[in-house]
Amino acid sequence: MKLITKTMLAAVCMLPLSGLTTSAKEQIVVESENTALVFTVGDNGRLYQSYFGKRIANAGDYASLPLGNEAYLTHGMEDYFEPALHINRADGNPSPLLTYKSHTVTPCKGGKETVITLVDPVYADEVAMHFVSYEKENVFKTWTEIFNKEKGAIVLEKFASSLLHFTSPNNYLTQYNGDWAREANAFTQELFYGKKDVDTKLGTRANMFVSPFFQLSLGAPATEKSGEVLVGTLGWTGNFRFTFEVDNKGDLRVLSGINPYFSQYRLAKGGSFRTPEFIFTLSRKGTGEASRNLHDWARRYQVKNGMGDRMTLLNNWESTYFDFDEKKLITLIGEAKEFGVDMFLLDDGWFGNKYPRHSDTQGLGDWDETANKLPNGIGRLTEEAKKQGVKFGLWIEPEMVNPKSELYEKHKDWVITLPNREEYYFRNQLVLDLSNPKVQDYVFNVVDELKTKYPDIAFFKWDCNSPITNIYSTYEKMNQSHLYIDYVRGLYNVLDRVAAKYPDLPMMLCAGGGGRTDYEALKYFPEMWVSDDTDPIERLFIQWGYSQVFPAKVQCAHVTTWNKSASAKFRVNVAMMGKLGFDLNLHDLSASDLAYCKQAVKNYNRLKPVILDGDQYRLVSPYEGNHAATMYVGKDKRKAVVFAFDVHPRYAEKLYNVVLEGLDANATYEVREIDRADCTVGDAKTYSGDYLMTVGLPLFSCNKLFSTVVELTKK
Ligand code: GLA
Repeated sequence: MKLITKTMLAAVCMLPLSGLTTSAKEQIVVESENTALVFTVGDNGRLYQSYFGKRIANAGDYASLPLGNEAYLTHGMEDYFEPALHINRADGNPSPLLTYKSHTVTPCKGGKETVITLVDPVYADEVAMHFVSYEKENVFKTWTEIFNKEKGAIVLEKFASSLLHFTSPNNYLTQYNGDWAREANAFTQELFYGKKDVDTKLGTRANMFVSPFFQLSLGAPATEKSGEVLVGTLGWTGNFRFTFEVDNKGDLRVLSGINPYFSQYRLAKGGSFRTPEFIFTLSRKGTGEASRNLHDWARRYQVKNGMGDRMTLLNNWESTYFDFDEKKLITLIGEAKEFGVDMFLLDDGWFGNKYPRHSDTQGLGDWDETANKLPNGIGRLTEEAKKQGVKFGLWIEPEMVNPKSELYEKHKDWVITLPNREEYYFRNQLVLDLSNPKVQDYVFNVVDELKTKYPDIAFFKWDCNSPITNIYSTYEKMNQSHLYIDYVRGLYNVLDRVAAKYPDLPMMLCAGGGGRTDYEALKYFPEMWVSDDTDPIERLFIQWGYSQVFPAKVQCAHVTTWNKSASAKFRVNVAMMGKLGFDLNLHDLSASDLAYCKQAVKNYNRLKPVILDGDQYRLVSPYEGNHAATMYVGKDKRKAVVFAFDVHPRYAEKLYNVVLEGLDANATYEVREIDRADCTVGDAKTYSGDYLMTVGLPLFSCNKLFSTVVELTKK
């Protein structure tokens, strides 16, 4: 076994780097307006995280910090806890030793990128730790790149995107999990000695049980307005894992990255591996500020068309399911026009001829229109939409196949399925093997052929209804443990091609509800379908959960007939807090409800800049009682809108005012109830911003399933 001598380490530490001379006290400060992450090179040449917290005014003070914990801990050395990096080498040595080599800082859109390169002095492998800090938003993105500079292949066993150390006396983790139709419910627990993993192994519909984000309160549980809290999320449309481990000293490490479960990755000589981005923000003013940091950052720098507009829509899924024909759809396109929405979206059930898609049991994979349902093809529908002055959108699920399909009969080798085993089906379907470039071509062609044939398709809803089952790839041959990762990379490859050819084509990210809800996917999708559950009561919780990390702008919220005991107004008001759509039959609504909905669409269009692009304040949590309230304030503080809900009030319950936030304290606001069920508006009253943010407004009532919307206009 080779020994690393002091002279070797000294040699590494002495290299002159980007104009800097390293010394034993080299310090690298990654900072935004309010937050700093400080690394120090130890006397041994290794890199330590010395600080993560409030930015200190005098940068020179960082020199007084203790060294801290090793920044990117490796397997098998003197640390006894979960490592960030574990490499298997041909000679059997699994323990990388990482020493500081160099670092660079370069400006980038919105901030700075710092790259710290670490090298194993014996094996010469390199790890580049990337940090992008967004100055104003106080958001950071971090990932690593691992370079194989050895003579042969290496196998990556563990390869975290990020490792952060915390030294607070108490730590509280809030995770968001559930299942189909009850996604993103919040659960908080204190972390004690030992390890807690939050992970998924579902592959494709990866977030069905658990969302790829968390909140970590430091010291004491954070509230909306107080407490120090880290909010983190991984941009990876596949298996992720967050590991929270409290060690013997009571210190906490948080590791974030791809789930290493069945994902050992062989890296050929000269190859490199880039881990996905871990995105985080640290707030000292509670979860509300942390969310707003992320919302601003997402709209400005991450989400496709993040600063652009969004279309309201009418979807046919809940009103027809698979039971429709051309005539019915033409009627619905007319209804979209009548509603006043921007687009009609045709959902599942329009394709397949040998195996027509009359239910979810067959047809997936055969993307030609069912002749007896649509004798004149999609073209007749886009033509009708054009005539009515609405856009036309189309549902596809191109990564999947029903065994009852022509695609399956022709290309069984394209399907992820185990040899010599009976197939297990999730929703009667299987996943296509996107690690295979031929399958990538096929999936790209689904979009490309539809767009070429029907250029007037203005939107796709891209669904993904099955997790990966029966995991085995004919294409990967001896590298089966690459499949989970190569699948996601194959998906990104397809999405890159779609984006390159159709840069302005909006698509909705959907995976049987919120099965795909991550920031890397949102680079390709301007919006996502967060849950199939559109019961407005459940949605208050689900949207509350996603809003911790994602802006209203990316959360599609549709009005349906789920929970008919809630009024149309209550259902619409919940949906107005996201990207509004309808998924019901117009004729299911009474004349007055229809008139109300049309008015609500108009109000929504007027308030869209405030709801979708303003600052969100979660005022009253649905978790805390019988009511809930959220408000949105335009960036210039001239307009604001408050949504207040009475869910299950008690008889003669004492009602408290809703205290507003985010307004200009010195300004006077005209306050008026809008969006009433009878299409009237309330009388205008005036208050100072200070009063509204101190005393608040009496917006709650003792009526069950009742909602109130208030518009504020600066005078
Ligand atoms: C998934 C989606 C639904 C709908 C159906 C169609 O469940 O989440 O919105 O599109 O598929 O099969």
